[in-house]
Amino acid sequence: MDLIRRPRRLRTNPAMRDIVAETRLHPEDMIQVLFVRDGIDAPQEIPSMPGQHQHTVESLVRAVGEAVAAGVRCIDLFGVPLDADKDAEGSAAWAEDGILNRGIRAVHDEFGDDVVIMADTCLDEFTSHGHCGPLTQNRFGTTVVDNDASVAAYCRMAVSQARAGAHVVSPSGMMDGQIAAIRQALDEEGFEEVSIMAYSAKYASAFFGPFRDAVGSSLQGDRKTYQQDPANRRESLLETQLDLEEGADMVMVKPAMAYLDVLREVADFSSVPVAAYQVSGEYAMIEAAAANGWVDRERIVLEALTGIRRAGADLIFTYYATEVAGWLRAGRR
Ligand code: PBG
Repeated sequence: MDLIRRPRRLRTNPAMRDIVAETRLHPEDMIQVLFVRDGIDAPQEIPSMPGQHQHTVESLVRAVGEAVAAGVRCIDLFGVPLDADKDAEGSAAWAEDGILNRGIRAVHDEFGDDVVIMADTCLDEFTSHGHCGPLTQNRFGTTVVDNDASVAAYCRMAVSQARAGAHVVSPSGMMDGQIAAIRQALDEEGFEEVSIMAYSAKYASAFFGPFRDAVGSSLQGDRKTYQQDPANRRESLLETQLDLEEGADMVMVKPAMAYLDVLREVADFSSVPVAAYQVSGEYAMIEAAAANGWVDRERIVLEALTGIRRAGADLIFTYYATEVAGWLRAGRR
């Protein structure tokens, strides 16, 4: 065939493919998500997330050490309190000696500024009903999450996290006005340097299923009155725009794989770094298929993460960060 253009020329060998690859993963683009649980004396594997654990404070510090050694520069921490410490307000969330703040403090004591400590700023792990904020009745007598009371609680929680040593707080509750209020609360307490990672476009997703196991969630029902409808795209641009106006330092789209179109649009539009969250269900599906021998685990993990980067994510929250950072250091991609 007499062809001028033969795209296959650039695919002839691994070195050639490497030099023309448009998208690369780096250990520093990945945020390792970790769980710390109160009242356990050894790490507990999460049944629906094989390979991931609820950590003790001590094993958390070890896990952060492994992440740092692999080249990961940021961790995101979730706390799992004792059932006895849950209440309708979620007050264990901002207790100075609450499990999440103890975890933050331990990591900060050990690693200081060597790793960016991000903390989840939401109440769902801490409320007895599992919702992301305190409940109230609307004018029709329906029970709903109280927006403004939730935001006030997030402010207390964010300040307590900053005090414990968090570099970044990450409000994930999808309440209106949460970014502006948290910014003001942090500034009033002298935490102007603490950044906000806004969960801007967060969908009411079935992909969060295994996470409920991971945090021992008490939730009955769903979060559809505060998280976004998977049918909507434009709404994500509004949510992101509002978060930017309110002072978000970074924005996020979540979940990742079923929302790559949203991620691309947010990335094109955002003036701040954009993250995507490869969530528990994305992890669990890969692990389940790989355990059955139905997919090649390493290739599919790298492909999923590369796809998320290609769609526009500067940063990826993933349960695979430490492991993948190790692979990347060994020259795989
Ligand atoms: C809630 C929160 C959730 C996740 C992160 N923060 C669960 C939810 O909104 O129901 C999910 C993370 C994952 O599935 O990996 N604040």
